[in-house]
Amino acid sequence: MCGIVGYIGNKQAYPILIKGLHRLEYRGYDSSGVALINDKNEINVYKTKGKVEDLEKYASDKDLSGTIGIAHTRWATHGEPNDSNAHPHYSQSKSLAIIHNGIIENYAIIKKDLIKRGYEFKSDTDTEVLVQLIEHIKEKNNVDLTKAVQLALTQAVGAYAIAVIEKGNPNQIVAARKASPLVIGVGDDEFFLASDATPFVEYTKKVIYLNDEEIATITRNDEVHIRTISDVEKTPELKEIEMSLNELEKGGFPHFMLKEIHEQPKRIAEAMRGRININHDNVALSGIIDNKDKFLNAKRIIIVACGTSWHAGLIGEYLLEEFTRIPVEVEYASEFRYRNPIINKDDIVIAISQSGETADTLAAVELARKKGAFVYGICNVIGSSIPRNTDSGTYTHVGPEIGVASTKAFTAQVTVLALISLTIANMKGSLDKKRYKELIDELATIPAKMEETLKTNENIQKIAPIFTYAKNFIYLGRGYNYPVALEGALKLKEISYIHAEGYPAAEMKHGPIALIDAEMPVVFIAPHKGMYEKTLSNIEEVKARKGRIFSIVTKGDNVVSKVSDYSIEIPETEECFVPLLATIPLQLLAYHIAIMKGCNVDQPRNLAKSVTVE
Ligand code: AGP
Ligand code: GLU
Repeated sequence: MCGIVGYIGNKQAYPILIKGLHRLEYRGYDSSGVALINDKNEINVYKTKGKVEDLEKYASDKDLSGTIGIAHTRWATHGEPNDSNAHPHYSQSKSLAIIHNGIIENYAIIKKDLIKRGYEFKSDTDTEVLVQLIEHIKEKNNVDLTKAVQLALTQAVGAYAIAVIEKGNPNQIVAARKASPLVIGVGDDEFFLASDATPFVEYTKKVIYLNDEEIATITRNDEVHIRTISDVEKTPELKEIEMSLNELEKGGFPHFMLKEIHEQPKRIAEAMRGRININHDNVALSGIIDNKDKFLNAKRIIIVACGTSWHAGLIGEYLLEEFTRIPVEVEYASEFRYRNPIINKDDIVIAISQSGETADTLAAVELARKKGAFVYGICNVIGSSIPRNTDSGTYTHVGPEIGVASTKAFTAQVTVLALISLTIANMKGSLDKKRYKELIDELATIPAKMEETLKTNENIQKIAPIFTYAKNFIYLGRGYNYPVALEGALKLKEISYIHAEGYPAAEMKHGPIALIDAEMPVVFIAPHKGMYEKTLSNIEEVKARKGRIFSIVTKGDNVVSKVSDYSIEIPETEECFVPLLATIPLQLLAYHIAIMKGCNVDQPRNLAKSVTVE
């Protein structure tokens, strides 16, 4: 994780770097720091434990001059979050400073060797080892910074996006990446570099995405020069990004999470735009149609993802199997990648990831490709690593998701999975035309129904304080709503720190029922369509044991709502689309409970938005 940002140009670097760090804070926020080269060509490093605002306070009375600098917001992997482990790290002689996102797996061996050579370490991080190694190589071989970085990286095992600056060299930043994201912004007489484009979107839309094992030498008033670690020269490819500044702001909401929850109707409509035709009798996803033969011949689809995206994958399994009759398996990417999975040549692997950078999902993609599968991505961040490493894919197009708890990306992933299922079903003829059209008609009504569902916000806000006492929660649903139960529980855990479990409702009697007493809140997703009576029986079982029932019911329901202590109504829809509506009250419930408990919903403890480490 971690956010890295760099600047070289004719403006003062510090304000640009600080603003950039704030935008990247979703990636990590346990300490932050900045390194600047001042007019005397010295490197000043300021860093401190805590958030970027703590860095600003700490640095306010320091020399912040300089038109070149690098900055970092950390999510610790090696060494506790404290001042000395914060980045940037100096080299021994203080002639170099580095920022790093990733893990140097063989740092201990390199460190031992450097200690023998007289190097002293000020931090417990793997990162400091790299900057010391670069300095050692530079001095020993009398080479320039780019060459020293290149030689050092031939020894480093692991993942990194790094940027290095050098005392007495105020015109150059050297950056490199492997398995951690890094993008260079190319402005007029200025360059930016960052983990994603958000820190510089107001300055330039022109970007160069660095590929794995590439090193960029970024020199003032020059072009970007790229070489690989094995010393092959590369021609930088300039791309245009689409992103606007107001997508990165809270737009009047107190938190990004609440803004993103409320954006869902609009974003889901955008995710469908151009993909469903005006008559609602055709869904066309170019990624699927362009690879028609692959999908028609697929014997099996394996979905790989992590966290919330994995929950979307579970809903995808139900959708794809119901509409296309292709067998589907859903795997945690972290398990899939290490268990030598069986992949046949007619298998399709679908990787789902909001960020497109999740290390485990990316590794699963690489493994599946190596084994000869056709790999399809469902991602949100355009140009991120997963879409660049898959054979084809579909973007969810919901704009930047900044809240660490994923909300709009989830409903968009489910929408895209529905579109994929319908496209394949139409190609295969596995759905009759009338049903196909009915489903499209219904899917097109979802944004308006989401809008209606959002009106439950006020009610949920009133109910939330009642639950702040709880230490545990159980979420139960059947069929399409079982993954919704998992997702509701994950949201609550992440942002309110209340322990929550999601189960298929029928599984409750096989164990979790023992937990139920008058203190235990049990959330049921119990819409009319989809095993309503069966779920009702499970609700009665909880009621009989005095559990406190919070239910999500279809509008007009007067059976489940009577048995429940609290119930929230959502509009009627097809069983397969209920997750798109039922998830929203659960997002709001988690949000309001977390707020009542005084938690930081946008940046929950220990978490980071984009998990680029294993
Ligand atoms: C969601 O609320 C979580 N923060 C997390 O589970 C997330 O979904 C997971 O890390 C996967 O991220 P990705 O979609 O960017 O790959
Ligand atoms: N490994 C580095 C550290 O612990 C960088 C962490 C990261 O990128 O998450 O400081």
